[in-house]
Amino acid sequence: MGEITVTINGSQLSGSEGMTILEAAQENGIDIPTLCHRPELTPIGACRICVVEVEGSRTLVGSCHTPITQGMVIYTHSPKVLETRKVIVELLLASHCGSCFMCDKANVCELRRIAADLEVGLPRFRVRKRYYPIEDVSPYIVRDLTKCILCRRCVRACNEIKKARVFGIAYRGFDSKVVVDFDQPIDKDVCQDCDVCISFCPTGALSRVKKLGEEKKGKALVISS
Ligand code: SF4
Ligand code: SF4
Ligand code: FES
Repeated sequence: MGEITVTINGSQLSGSEGMTILEAAQENGIDIPTLCHRPELTPIGACRICVVEVEGSRTLVGSCHTPITQGMVIYTHSPKVLETRKVIVELLLASHCGSCFMCDKANVCELRRIAADLEVGLPRFRVRKRYYPIEDVSPYIVRDLTKCILCRRCVRACNEIKKARVFGIAYRGFDSKVVVDFDQPIDKDVCQDCDVCISFCPTGALSRVKKLGEEKKGKALVISS
């Protein structure tokens, strides 16, 4: 594989042919935030949080799916890039449910971590929120799609790693949704109870069904009159 020279944030670096901008940056210790991307899964460029500036390109490019080319000049943290990433996170949070204090994944939520890194403060946008009833009919998985950011990591993980193909995407635009078959609850005969999708979900949208006695202590909300 041929060697390719690129300039990232003013430093000349080398990578190999076929490498993405994200991989070249990571190999040289430069951190670019990602949400829909995972190295084990096919990149789909769904979230745009990984955008970078490339000299000569009219628009920002998604680093997780754009290969490096000889002589490319890349800026991973320019003011334009940082502002764009911030707006993307603000929009995701604006349509999010906002119940982080009650969420099992609050301390490990990737969306929250990226929001904190980008110093996202109070919402500037008024966006319609998505509300779905919690799906807890499956014996294995609880789905709270109100917290889903449509990164499709669960869809790809189930397809590509488990080869079970349980999930798909249905509807369009704002109504897009991760569904099972024709938008039915997860069927225990289809799902192989492997937890792979849960481990790939960056938010609290997917979690394991709690067995009796596993309830988190102190989680109950007591409202006194
Ligand atoms: S638990 Fe495994 S088989 Fe079931 S939906 Fe998730 S990834 Fe697919
Ligand atoms: S359920 Fe989780 S992994 Fe699946 S698309 Fe939504 S946020 Fe991503
Ligand atoms: S991480 Fe690159 S588009 Fe989502």
